[in-house]
Amino acid sequence: MSGGPARVARVSTPGYFVSFEGGDGGGKTTQARLLGEWLGAALGREVVLTREPGGTELGAELRRAVLHGQDMGPRAEALLYAADRAHHVASLVRPALERGAVVITDRYLDSSVAYQAGGRQLSEDEVERLSLWAVEGLLPDVTILLDVDPATSAARMTGDPDRLERAGDAFHRRTREAYLRRAEADPGRWVVVDAVGTVDEVHARVRAALAGRLGLVDR
Ligand code: TYD
Repeated sequence: MSGGPARVARVSTPGYFVSFEGGDGGGKTTQARLLGEWLGAALGREVVLTREPGGTELGAELRRAVLHGQDMGPRAEALLYAADRAHHVASLVRPALERGAVVITDRYLDSSVAYQAGGRQLSEDEVERLSLWAVEGLLPDVTILLDVDPATSAARMTGDPDRLERAGDAFHRRTREAYLRRAEADPGRWVVVDAVGTVDEVHARVRAALAGRLGLVDR
């Protein structure tokens, strides 16, 4: 886990792997579902919609612990997210990609870099390496950042806030900055989409970006 930049091996599989990232309340879940419907029809392939944390049975237990359990330090938090991710990839994401499916995940390893490094201020390099180790180097083909100002997303949130939602304004501003920095550093993988607008407007932006990358006609 020490020395040199994080390994960013792109592991090739027959499937197509998309992750949605961004602040809380930015509409990722709805946009992931809409993109799944569109891509499934456009490509004629199986689509698997999933999420982190909590995309598997073990993940549901880890999700409850990390979001609603006892308070914990940033390292324990980072390890729980990484454990969720390791199991998610090994048991669900990789098998689906290997059978040629389109896998769309609502959050992936960039959430750990944005929240546990940007937000909690752990080392970005260490957090990235931890996740890359957990998933044996599997990176998405494309990562869609639904970018929204934390003040706007706070207004969209409903219900009791979880441990991360309670982390404060400065935390969420750092998270957004970390995402934008990462997107800027790797434009080959990232697409930044303005998440302000109606569901249909944002979906049209996401679709146009993906259509361009996949050489599809957007209609
Ligand atoms: P999520 O279910 O996506 O919440 P929301 O729908 O409100 O966006 O994610 C739960 C929380 O977990 C969210 O605040 C972001 C946080 N998180 C991390 O801090 N690190 C991670 O690696 C992941 C996957 C999520």
